[in-house]
Amino acid sequence: MLEIKGLCKSYENYGKSGRLEVLDHIDMTVGDEEFVSIIGPSGCGKSTIFNLLCGIEGKSEGTVLVGKSPAKPSDFSYMPQTDLLMDWKRVWENIALPLKLRGVSKAEAKARVLGQSALYGLSGFENAWPSELSGGMRQRAAFFRTMLSSGKIMLLDEPFAALDALNRERMQEWLMEVLANEKRTIVLITHSVDEAVFLSDRVYVLSDRPAKVKCAITIGLPRPRRRKLLTTPEFNDLKAVLLSNLI
Ligand SMILES: Nc1ncnc2c1ncn2[C@@H]1O[C@H](COP(=O)(O)OP(=O)(O)O)[C@@H](O)[C@H]1O
Ligand SMILES: [Mg+2]
Repeated sequence: MLEIKGLCKSYENYGKSGRLEVLDHIDMTVGDEEFVSIIGPSGCGKSTIFNLLCGIEGKSEGTVLVGKSPAKPSDFSYMPQTDLLMDWKRVWENIALPLKLRGVSKAEAKARVLGQSALYGLSGFENAWPSELSGGMRQRAAFFRTMLSSGKIMLLDEPFAALDALNRERMQEWLMEVLANEKRTIVLITHSVDEAVFLSDRVYVLSDRPAKVKCAITIGLPRPRRRKLLTTPEFNDLKAVLLSNLI
């Protein structure tokens, strides 16, 4: 589905040294309906990978294919690190934005959001303002909006990082349930080893900046996965492998 080959990025004219190398020949593949996580130290270049895929930044070197064709920004549904909800628009209008951009009428867009809002834990809040939502609800609203985007590949940049531990675990379980019903191809950036192992089919571990791929680990744990998996030896063995590659 997605094939990244030799992706490099450096920022020129950066500070005194003149050049900041961020990505160093990243190779990565993501299969159809696969859930892949990217984990790596803070500042190593994870968000930069997504910005290159979406065309927000230009790459320095490398190729990116979706299917067999060069990737286009419209191949991706991007959920950036900050939720970017517009405070002056109601919750449903924020969620419906991708539909509006595709020319769907206001009435139909609203009906679609209202029809699915329960799944995202937002029923009764469709007409609220974003400022009236909890942190977890804001993230679910941003995720709902991303699900309504038409890009084949979802890019989720640390969607749960701002949440406290309990909410974060609830959201991870919730995400798995949503995705069990509606299969997607997903690339998730996280700095949580637990999150990566719990959610993923495969995990890429990146080095410090300039980021290189240190290893790719297959997470063969059966699905559906539940919280109790977190205390099993199989889960802890995979965590240990990831941690030994991270540090
Ligand atoms: N537009 C930019 N111009 C210059 N440097 C940038 C820009 N965007 C990111 N960087 C730098 O690139 C490095 C990697 O950033 P980022 O990809 O956001 O890291 P991560 O998401 O892994 O924490 C950081 O050192 C950051 O300061
Ligand atoms: Mg980042």
